[in-house]
Amino acid sequence: MLQMLDGTGPGAAVVINRADYLAPAYWIDTVDLCFDLDPVKTRVLNKMTLRRNPEVPAQPLRLDGEELNLARVLVNGQGTSFKMEGGQLVLCDLPDAFQLEIFTTTCPSKNTKLMGLYVSNDSFFTQCEAEGFRRITYFLDRPDVMASYSVTLRADKAKYPVLLSNGNLVAHGPLEDGPNGARHFAKWVDPHRKPSYLFALVAGQLVAREQRITTRAGQDHLLQVYVRPGDLDKTEHAMVSLMHSVAWDEARFGLKLDLERFMIVATSDFNMGAMENKGLNIFNTKYVLANQATATDVDFSNIESVVGHEYFHNWTGNRITCRDWFQLSLKEGLTVFRDQEFSQDLCAAPSARAVKRIEDVRVLRTAQFPEDAGPMAHPVRPDSYIEISNFYTVTIYEKGAEVVRMMQTLVGREGFAKGMTLYFERHDGNAVTCDDFAQAIADANPASDLSRLLPQFKRWYSQAGTPHLQAQGVYDAAARSYTLTLAQSCASTPGQPAKEPFVIPVSLGLLGVDGQDLPLQLDSETAPAAGTRTVVLTQEHETFTFVNIDAEPVPSILRGFTAPVVLDFAYTDAQLLHLLAHDSDPFNRWEAGQRLAVNQAVNAIKNIAISADAACTNVLNDAYLDAMRQVLRHPSLDSAFKDLVLTLPSETYLAEQLDVVDPQHIHAVREAMRQQLASALQADWEAVYEANHDTGAYTPDPVSSGRRALAGIALTHLCLAAQASGDTVWPGKTLQRFKDAGNMTDRFNALAALVSSSHPLATQALAQFHAMFKDEPLVIDKWFSLQTGAPDRGGNILPAVRQLMKHTDFSLKNPNRTRSVISTFCQGNPAAFHRLDAAGYQFWSERVIELDAINPQVAARLARALDRWSKLAEPYRSQAHQAIARVAARTDLSKDTHEVITRALGQ
Ligand code: BES
Ligand code: ZN
Repeated sequence: MLQMLDGTGPGAAVVINRADYLAPAYWIDTVDLCFDLDPVKTRVLNKMTLRRNPEVPAQPLRLDGEELNLARVLVNGQGTSFKMEGGQLVLCDLPDAFQLEIFTTTCPSKNTKLMGLYVSNDSFFTQCEAEGFRRITYFLDRPDVMASYSVTLRADKAKYPVLLSNGNLVAHGPLEDGPNGARHFAKWVDPHRKPSYLFALVAGQLVAREQRITTRAGQDHLLQVYVRPGDLDKTEHAMVSLMHSVAWDEARFGLKLDLERFMIVATSDFNMGAMENKGLNIFNTKYVLANQATATDVDFSNIESVVGHEYFHNWTGNRITCRDWFQLSLKEGLTVFRDQEFSQDLCAAPSARAVKRIEDVRVLRTAQFPEDAGPMAHPVRPDSYIEISNFYTVTIYEKGAEVVRMMQTLVGREGFAKGMTLYFERHDGNAVTCDDFAQAIADANPASDLSRLLPQFKRWYSQAGTPHLQAQGVYDAAARSYTLTLAQSCASTPGQPAKEPFVIPVSLGLLGVDGQDLPLQLDSETAPAAGTRTVVLTQEHETFTFVNIDAEPVPSILRGFTAPVVLDFAYTDAQLLHLLAHDSDPFNRWEAGQRLAVNQAVNAIKNIAISADAACTNVLNDAYLDAMRQVLRHPSLDSAFKDLVLTLPSETYLAEQLDVVDPQHIHAVREAMRQQLASALQADWEAVYEANHDTGAYTPDPVSSGRRALAGIALTHLCLAAQASGDTVWPGKTLQRFKDAGNMTDRFNALAALVSSSHPLATQALAQFHAMFKDEPLVIDKWFSLQTGAPDRGGNILPAVRQLMKHTDFSLKNPNRTRSVISTFCQGNPAAFHRLDAAGYQFWSERVIELDAINPQVAARLARALDRWSKLAEPYRSQAHQAIARVAARTDLSKDTHEVITRALGQ
């Protein structure tokens, strides 16, 4: 058991277990909050009506609170006795129904954790998920207590002209003058019951872009995007994305906007990306602000999906919420699935949908698979936690979305929509579990594989770890048959030594010699079916025999990545080249190219003893280079798809393919591969650049952004080739491109090409970039991260990071800035971070400790940089372990960081 480590009061850092769930002893029906907003001392008057939950044995009321100054407690208007226990306010001998009035104060300006009520740029914001409401007032701060809120905000009128909270504005007007002049108030009433984590308020000097819309159903709504004055010219894309989101949820799932007014507010100090507070979403500026001068295509596309994500929570999360935080994937996995589908549905072309799918799978495999194989591995529905903030993970989100996607695969797209309808019929307005969701999808589709296999399917919720799918194919020329054997296994994870078989939907096809899909007929069938089919594995080992096959086919397995598994199949290079040239499934076509690159990289890493030798070795064979040339020259493939195929697997992904990881070695091999691609394909890179670099008037659509991406990767390789040959033409052109660019994507790609080839011109370009954008914090974040994420040359990056931390623009208190400098270095630049002299680890441990005192959530995320220490080669392994142990030895860690560090050490 852990000692108490949180500065929030005495007691023990408690492990919370899912199995211990108990319904609340009291319900809170209404909450009437009145805020007197002041940065130093905000007064909060909280009047609630409560009643005992008759289904639970009578017991005292225990209200959560954190860093609050308690001034008064009244029950039915009378003073009452109370006690404080482990930070909770405890009231005994209460009537069955009563009014409770609590008066507290807090200091928002000192709130560097950015949880609860805090100040950013002289405005007030709140962040309550998961357990931040208790930093605003004493409450039953748990998602299954849903109440009706009315909120009055009172503040200085000149400093805080805009006063916002959830729901509808019902009154506003002047108040008596305060010591600093005129004051005013606004009263908001939320027509929907909600859990406390969806409460929000905002107050400050803000301006809004407004849009009135009429939905299909004929209802009028007001959409608003609030930003600081001066940022209005960067709100159009967020507004358009919001309008698309409203239309999409109504069209695809019949889910309408249920509020007269829907608001998004941007803040530059935010721990996460964005938050779905009812009717008042609060966003990190990074996911709102964009115009062509300051934001890249990637930023535009992220804004679209984050705006969609938070909007979609209005139904999946807010109307139906989580019973407890173990059910987090109920809302997050489902809503990620929905935002992924939204972004795909906004694509005009099928190829653009495929590109989005590839990008999503790439995130899953480079971030979630390592999590599932490391010390923080946990099921999509975890069994225990110490700090819930640590469980907003890629497993809950991305793997959770894949679990929902598998359900859709098993019941079909229409069946899934029917399942969603049943889910809302059954559970609208309630706090429910992942079981309730899966049951609704299955019950709406009684004849489906999901319904038939539901208990086994739900192992995806309870078992951690990434299953491996071992495939073998045998062609029998005499019988004209092809037998595919599929075997599944899953390695143990912390606390789960043995796993039961999963339900794994596998889409597959067979390619003939001519590259066409063969008709598929199983030996049990009387007639063939065309193209792709989906088989559903339930056993450890299953065999499928396809008949009437004239020559040995090449199997294309797991098309579209129908399950979050690792597919092991001993493809020959020739087979992979065949798939890369012909597969009708774009996902597997891309995957074939990745496998070819991974195989060659892994061979080089295993066979070339040290990194210095790797740097000047030919890692890639001619067949691969030739295939890449064919892709670049292909007349009909999309630019965006070409960019994905030509992008080598990341160092992190390569590390996952190895049992022992030497980050320097991986980096040297991958750099050698990049250099080889650059030089061997130089003429083609030139042609591709010339054909794609002019995309006309800027719009962030998939076609033109694909062309900009391809031009960008071409430029990077042209600069790399120039570095090798001593050529000055392309670096010069690149600098010119940097200067002349008409949009941030082209400008940033040119700058990145100079930086990533370590060209001397990069220095002046970086200086110019900073001068141009010194008043644009989001661009300055890019400026920082480009430098801290640059390829390490002889250990130059760590000193640069230390230098950048002294820059006047740096601040450890701003999460975006901290991530762009420190996280990019520790988590996005493995070869710079994992140094032979252990200085990267020393730096990491200092920053984790320093940051933990300011913002535990941000610190705990950084703490995860060394999750996979036990896979490292020596001396990295021992040195990383020592660095973790140094952090663990601190007695003043937050429970956030302590949980991560303790898990990393395997305790
Ligand atoms: N509900 C979360 C925001 C959140 C996460 C609040 C953790 C408190 C703790 C929100 O819906 C979310 O998931 N945001 C993501 C972005 C999204 C597009 C995946 C985020 O903030 O990273
Ligand atoms: Zn979410």
